[in-house]
Amino acid sequence: MSKQIVFSGIQPTGGVHIGNYLGALRNWVRLQDEYETIYCVVDLHALTIPQDPAEFERERLEAAKMVIAAGVDPNTSLFYYQSQVPQHTELSWILGTLTQVGSLNRMTQYKDKADQAGANLGLYAYPVLMAADILIHHAHRVPVGDDQIQHLELTRDLAERFNRRFGEEFPVPEGIIPEHGARIMSLQDPTSKMSKSDPNQGSRIQLLDDPDTIRKRIGRAVTDSGTGIEFDWNRKPGISNLLEILSLFTDTQVDKLVAEHNAMQYGEFKHVVAEAVIDGLAPIRRSYSSLEDEEVSRLMYKGALDARTSAEKYQVSVREKVGLTGH
Ligand code: TRP
Repeated sequence: MSKQIVFSGIQPTGGVHIGNYLGALRNWVRLQDEYETIYCVVDLHALTIPQDPAEFERERLEAAKMVIAAGVDPNTSLFYYQSQVPQHTELSWILGTLTQVGSLNRMTQYKDKADQAGANLGLYAYPVLMAADILIHHAHRVPVGDDQIQHLELTRDLAERFNRRFGEEFPVPEGIIPEHGARIMSLQDPTSKMSKSDPNQGSRIQLLDDPDTIRKRIGRAVTDSGTGIEFDWNRKPGISNLLEILSLFTDTQVDKLVAEHNAMQYGEFKHVVAEAVIDGLAPIRRSYSSLEDEEVSRLMYKGALDARTSAEKYQVSVREKVGLTGH
């Protein structure tokens, strides 16, 4: 049997922080061994928030380099920019005709972003384009953070609706939600998720931050009153977040870390966490700086051409099913 297909996408703006890495990117890398993997920098999605064109261009390339530096191998995975594969937007239109506006009105991410950025049609249709990203490749599995579960449910509904109405076309995809790392919290407010859009830079660590910045950010991380290194999200959210980060960067169970560090002062423990993060990110920084912009752009375009070829076969069968034959 051929391998199952994994698809996922990453937004190119705002940089990549350790929450994105531990919750998503690192899993993308690991999934390459077991699945046929297809990954995409979703630049059209990012346009739903106003962008400065020159800066956008730069951030888009940086995101592509970051994904490769983190370990996605463009020779193993299909990796490309969404906008360079027009089959995504065509399928998005067709799926849009099957989407009830009522279901889009219920999307919590839309409600949040519309409050901040103004309600434009692209933002409203965002989940439909995401469904098209996944379905155009007949993906079976979709690694996503828990904030994307609602969008994935819509994708599943649309796949089922299309199949019922026009005949079997799409596998109904399932999520891969990580058990650990799905919720790395802000260093400044450990009750809310680490986020690209938080105006406070101190709330996160970017993958390319230098060692001094990392030491400073972790040193200033909000911790809890009292003493003792314990894992308890209710009583000690700050320390629990640092334990989670340490656990993921050292591939060590939280229980074991608690046993080892239980009596440490917070300051000393933060030092241990900072050094583990610095060590964990060092290979990514090294690999990033060895990547040439032009070479990466060329790789991305090659990826897009391969992705078009793979998407075209399904595009033809979707067109035929809905009554748009002849090409
Ligand atoms: N909406 C996703 C996010 O913000 C990004 C995304 C776009 C995506 N298309 C996708 C993720 C398809 C998985 C599959 O994280």
